[in-house]
Amino acid sequence: MSRRIYMDHSGTTPIDPQVLEAMMPFLTTNYANPSSLYTEAREVRAAVEGAREKVAAAINAKPEEITFTSGGTESDNLGIKGVALARKEKSGHIITTSIEHHAVTHTVEHLEDMGFEATYLPVNEFGQVELDTLEKEIRKDTFLISVVYGNNEIGTIQDLKEIVKLAHKHDVLVHTDAVQAVAKIPVDVKDLGVDLLSLSGHKIYGPKGIGALYARKGLKLAPVQHGGGHERNLRSGTENVPGAVGLGKAMEIGKAGLATEIPRIKGMRDRLIKGMLELEDTYLNGHPEKRLPHNAHFRFSYIEGEALLLNLDMMGIIASTGSACSSKSLKASHVLLAIGLTPEQAHGSLRLTLGKGNTDDEIDTALDAIPKVVKKLRAMSPLGHKGGK
Ligand SMILES: Cc1ncc(COP(=O)(O)O)c(C=O)c1O
Repeated sequence: MSRRIYMDHSGTTPIDPQVLEAMMPFLTTNYANPSSLYTEAREVRAAVEGAREKVAAAINAKPEEITFTSGGTESDNLGIKGVALARKEKSGHIITTSIEHHAVTHTVEHLEDMGFEATYLPVNEFGQVELDTLEKEIRKDTFLISVVYGNNEIGTIQDLKEIVKLAHKHDVLVHTDAVQAVAKIPVDVKDLGVDLLSLSGHKIYGPKGIGALYARKGLKLAPVQHGGGHERNLRSGTENVPGAVGLGKAMEIGKAGLATEIPRIKGMRDRLIKGMLELEDTYLNGHPEKRLPHNAHFRFSYIEGEALLLNLDMMGIIASTGSACSSKSLKASHVLLAIGLTPEQAHGSLRLTLGKGNTDDEIDTALDAIPKVVKKLRAMSPLGHKGGK
């Protein structure tokens, strides 16, 4: 196969060679169970705790505020259910948004089935939560607001600090899903003021199957998974040692990359957006500025995103129609509907998410290939458009 151009870094990322190198001993020679008492086990325990310190340092947290999980999905579950189930009265009101990842939405829906109540906030055309809309929905029994920091589809970044200030004014806790934001924009839990934050390894050049939940010290959380009492009783199960070590390294590299790699990636992304918007009937979904630096999300009138994606795949360009998790279903993305697109408009969307491996040459190739495919598809489109400039 000729050279492939990977532009789906919000779907997942390749492991950074330095991350793999850090993990290797714990996949091979250093296999002891960190809960055991002998010398080898104590060394492995030290590695897990070292990784916890690295994860904490990268987001300005304390090590004891970090719980290792199996990824973003579990972190969202533990954060949201953990707060809800720790309440004496197993009821109350949760606010979340209409543009969350399913890991949050389906968790909140599950809590509704258990007797909690929930509000799914609308967002504006750019995908942002508006503060006055939020404030109107806060009730006496609201105990948690869960808001995605950087959206996985359209890349919109929320004014999280302001949301936290408003929530805390009403004594409401804030959880944020920062799976896509970490290592893309600065994430400082103390500066943001959030109470809970989810992150994941495989979106930041770490391994799959590892993530972490930050929970502010003193916060009451109920465990979701029971067993041997690992992770301060919050997440039972023998620790994923290579994963934790890999996550620690990936967080460290990711934070350093904010000043080096991210400006380069943002530069390429900006050029990609500028070039693509020269094509007629082409629009950018999401916020023009408050967006993740690697995310470009386009909408092309008169064509189907799936057809575009498959044509690009044949040309060696790897993209996504929106969210990796829902791309197999033909339902229009709930995020795109929430920003006011019709199902037809939503179906004509394409997400390109850049990463460390991308080069300027690849941007040139994409800027040449995508308009050609769009024009070809429009020429045979049953949706109305014939040809174009
Ligand atoms: C915003 C967001 N939250 C949660 C997840 C789930 O993370 P994981 O794949 O680590 O379970 C994803 C993955 O796409 C995501 O983009």
